[in-house]
Amino acid sequence: MPETTKHLLLVEDEAPLRETLAERLADHGFEVVQADTGERAIEQLAEFAFDIVITDLRLPGLDGTRVLEAALLRYPDIIGIIVTGYGTVKDAVEAIKRGATDFVTKPFQFDELLHALNSALEQRRLKAENAYLRSQLQERYRFEGLIGRSQAMRDLFQLLETVSASASTILVSGETGTGKEVVARAIHHNSPRRAQRFVALNCGAIPETLLEAELFGHVRGAFTGAIGTRQGRLEQAHKGTLFLDEVGTMSPGMQMKLLRVLQEREFERIGDAHTIKVDVRVVAATNSDLQKMVAEGTFREDLFYRLNIIPVLLPPLRDRREDIPLLVQHFLKKFSGPESGVLSAKPDQTRPEPGGRPSAILTLSQQAMRCLMAYSWPGNVRQLENAIERAVALSGGRTQIETADLTLDIQQASQAAAAPDLTLPEDGIDFDAYVSRIEHQLIRRALEKTGGNKGRASKLLNLKRTTLVEKLKRLEYRAES
Ligand SMILES: Nc1ncnc2c1ncn2[C@@H]1O[C@H](COP(=O)(O)OP(=O)(O)OP(=O)(O)O)[C@@H](O)[C@H]1O
Ligand SMILES: [Mg+2]
Repeated sequence: MPETTKHLLLVEDEAPLRETLAERLADHGFEVVQADTGERAIEQLAEFAFDIVITDLRLPGLDGTRVLEAALLRYPDIIGIIVTGYGTVKDAVEAIKRGATDFVTKPFQFDELLHALNSALEQRRLKAENAYLRSQLQERYRFEGLIGRSQAMRDLFQLLETVSASASTILVSGETGTGKEVVARAIHHNSPRRAQRFVALNCGAIPETLLEAELFGHVRGAFTGAIGTRQGRLEQAHKGTLFLDEVGTMSPGMQMKLLRVLQEREFERIGDAHTIKVDVRVVAATNSDLQKMVAEGTFREDLFYRLNIIPVLLPPLRDRREDIPLLVQHFLKKFSGPESGVLSAKPDQTRPEPGGRPSAILTLSQQAMRCLMAYSWPGNVRQLENAIERAVALSGGRTQIETADLTLDIQQASQAAAAPDLTLPEDGIDFDAYVSRIEHQLIRRALEKTGGNKGRASKLLNLKRTTLVEKLKRLEYRAES
């Protein structure tokens, strides 16, 4: 798909008007998705990074203002055009104040709308940046260092808020790169222990004997190489928080020793008979399925229950794709903001914008955003962070990151998501109409690509030419009736 194809969400409850508009917009090269209610529009915005939203102001249920608000919240750079039924100046001014780019009043000529669209696109093209909105936006969706606006993340923030106050042991599980360590730190920094230490120990990174010495400390001569007396991490974390990363990798012997600490809050340094009492809050993390390991007999059941007092589950990024735009903004700021050192090398680009807004940071094209939203992210947030860092480095002096700045596998992801409108609304769909709409879109796209050559279009779609012609006839018939 060329970078220039603009994806447009059209929200209008009057079906005939909506259909006509959609058709004419499609004729002008826009990729149009229709929504008949505000609720439906908001669902679609959650699924797909549109370039433009055109919405009627009056809708049954959630009105156009809410649609616009939701669109801007997700995609601060989206073009929002309001259609008002009454044409009062007040409505229009209010909409613009809320971030709409332009408005048209009913009844209007199609050209009027097209003109509004084209000038908005031009304006957007010239305007490099909107850092101000972005930074404001983030504040509402963060908890300590964690960012997210998906329901799963907001539920997590609430859970963390509650459990931080207690001293209960927490087990954080999630795939690699989902933010388990950030969660552990967030809990500590939000707890009454925040003034004390957060001590981390990665149980997977070191051999058993060393791990034991790290955790409990040792006295001089306790083992070969123990030249002096050393405090273990448990002691260091006294009154604070001990973060045990990758607990699933502990040997049976270490599991038993840890169990004792969790039960009695006491231990001895290696080579010493003196028992030390500690007050630590333990947060453990794992990316393996401990419950399964218990069933298989590789992880102690009693230890599992001791750790799993409060389970915190971090969903993989592919299950909360709506967090991607926010995370992208966050990482863009991190890697291209004034403090990152990237732009400070070029003083002319850090000039504050007129109006006292903060200096410009890099943006991302919507096509690139679509790729990021479609990709499966096996390495989760860490992989996304790396992808943005790489893209920023490759973008050189440009103000916008393009699809080409992403790795090939990410670039290819958006092809699979070429049909954006694949949500199943609560009240169901008309299956046949839906499928034929997709057929229609694909055929139209193939014909566009081949300049209307049916033979080549059918090759593109892997259809017999006769099948394509047949489908086309049927679709045209349906469109007319
Ligand atoms: N919700 C989030 N908001 C902002 N940054 C995040 C978020 N989740 C993860 N990150 C960032 O992603 C990176 C990976 O996070 P973290 O190290 O906590 O993952 P992890 O789950 O511990 O991974 P692993 O299992 O591989 O150790 C870090 O740079 C972290 O700052
Ligand atoms: Mg980790």
